[in-house]
Amino acid sequence: MKKTVLVSGGAGFIGSHVTVELIQAGYEVVVADNMSNCDLTCFEGVKKITGRDDIPFEKTDFCDAAAADALFAKYPIDAVIHFAAFKAVGESVAKPVMYYKNNLGSFLNVLEAAGAHGCHNVLFSSSATVYGEPDVVPVTERSPRKPATSPYGATKQMCEDILRDTVRATAGTPGEIKGILLRYFNPIGAHPSALIGELPRGVPNNLVPFITQTAIGKRECLSIFGNDYPTPDGTCQRDYIDIVDLAKAHVCAVARMMDGKMTEGCEVYNIGTGRPVSVLELVNAFQKVNGLKLNYRFAPRREGDVTAIWADPSLANKVLGWKAGRSVEDTLAAAWAWEKHLAGK
Ligand code: UFG
Repeated sequence: MKKTVLVSGGAGFIGSHVTVELIQAGYEVVVADNMSNCDLTCFEGVKKITGRDDIPFEKTDFCDAAAADALFAKYPIDAVIHFAAFKAVGESVAKPVMYYKNNLGSFLNVLEAAGAHGCHNVLFSSSATVYGEPDVVPVTERSPRKPATSPYGATKQMCEDILRDTVRATAGTPGEIKGILLRYFNPIGAHPSALIGELPRGVPNNLVPFITQTAIGKRECLSIFGNDYPTPDGTCQRDYIDIVDLAKAHVCAVARMMDGKMTEGCEVYNIGTGRPVSVLELVNAFQKVNGLKLNYRFAPRREGDVTAIWADPSLANKVLGWKAGRSVEDTLAAAWAWEKHLAGK
């Protein structure tokens, strides 16, 4: 019988790509989202890509404990992948209570409902932000977690701890919960069909949506935040990971959980390429692969940015049997195709 995976926050950027890969790998997926930061564009795209018009969709706010419980009562959920969270670093600094309430509250309700309804597998969507400014790059899963520099980052660390504690407390009991923490580096790009992608509301905070919106004429000029960092070209370095590659990592992780292959109650994996790319390199690659000129200027550093961080993804490569495969050029071409799709071009 097909296994059922609940994807909380499944109508968003990462959730929609993960839903596609899960369905294509043979899972039943229940998509749940409170639609606070997205519309149905991506969910409609998911249906088109998969050719499935019958994917269950629930408008659920996971901060509502009764609603979370009702969802687990309604479907035979074997595993949950939890994305439903706020994710804007700057906003979290301005509105900490809102971030803690939403990001912690929704995850606690998911864990409680999973426990109450015999769902034993929980995958949490974490972030490289938990490493803060690393002393050594690339970072491995054993690199220290630094004090969070924003409430958003703190919620990622706290949810990691909450899942670890839950795994420890339930080990060997009938309500045993297994956990996987996936620490994403910088997910970018879009599905090659150009039917799903990133849909930021208002002015984008992240680099690639800002680049594509500038290229299409929605924004006048990209500001590159800082060119005096101690890096080869003076701009920050990140590990940009293709969104479809990232989505596939979830299929590998879910399969490992469901097949009883985990060797620890709570496992953690870096999901990145292992390749540092600077802001300027990314901008140049975007211009080259798409054959266009981007209007950009150098601007002061952005507060809170780390200088350089990239993953050592060897654990995920070895244990999950997963590897990022797409070139940054292909990923940037997909991001541009998606922006053009949105503009009806
Ligand atoms: N950048 C610019 N101009 C912009 C936007 C970004 O120069 O308009 C630069 C940033 O200074 C940074 C790089 O592009 O050097 C990447 O910035 P993003 O905002 O795209 O991504 P971050 O690395 O800051 O943050 C991302 C996620 C967070 C997560 C963090 C973990 O957005 O959710 O990675 O490292 F917490």
